Amino acid sequence: MSLQIHLHSCRDVAIRSVAREIATLIRNKPHAVLGLATGATPIPLYRELVRLHREEGLSFRQVTTFNLDEYLGLEPTHPETYWNFMHRHLFDRIDIPAANIHMPHAQLAEADILSHCEAYEDAIRVAGGIDYQILGIGRTGHIGFNEPGSPADSITRRIHLDAITRQDAAPAFGDLAHVPKHAITMGCGTILAARKIALLAFGESKADIVRRALREPVTDQVSASFLQNHPEAHFHLDPASASALG
Ligand code: PGA
Repeated sequence: MSLQIHLHSCRDVAIRSVAREIATLIRNKPHAVLGLATGATPIPLYRELVRLHREEGLSFRQVTTFNLDEYLGLEPTHPETYWNFMHRHLFDRIDIPAANIHMPHAQLAEADILSHCEAYEDAIRVAGGIDYQILGIGRTGHIGFNEPGSPADSITRRIHLDAITRQDAAPAFGDLAHVPKHAITMGCGTILAARKIALLAFGESKADIVRRALREPVTDQVSASFLQNHPEAHFHLDPASASALG
């Protein structure tokens, strides 16, 4: 199979459908390995997974997670670290053991970055690889923080954040000057190794980049376009994000 586009009637229908898939995966395979994303897009998905945990007994006790990325240089107490984001929206509200949670570190000495990234790749391999990877898409076409120019076979590494990405993050940080310039991100190759991928994109602001990712030739200028070559990649869209597809 190749890339599939799921045009949902609205965002909430898309969210429920992806959450149901994740729940089915976990019920069939309690040791499932999930790849998780941050940003505004997956927040309602995490809300729905928390609801499934609380109301329908979905247990994450044996699940392992790997997050896509983390800003470099933020203090552990900074509310915008992805560590804090994930705990606020998901991890503190479900029964996943802390030892099963993997995220790149925000505080790394220059000399430790390479070994940290290699250890992250190793940990994914040791866990058996990612069964189900959730993605958003940035206006640069990034998946994770794989900004334009990221090779298809790139692995976990430090990345310089694109100016557009930093602009989009500025409101959360108060102003542009406070947005970190670097991050650690899984590579495109790390992401493409996942057995199944669900990219979520909602709203008109995503319409043009969704069109470029799906309708233009595969290019390292739009890392989401690499998903065209993945056997189990699924784009979950609402009418607004799909509006430029024609
Ligand atoms: P968003 O970010 O969900 O906040 O739109 C998506 C992304 O940058 O991957």
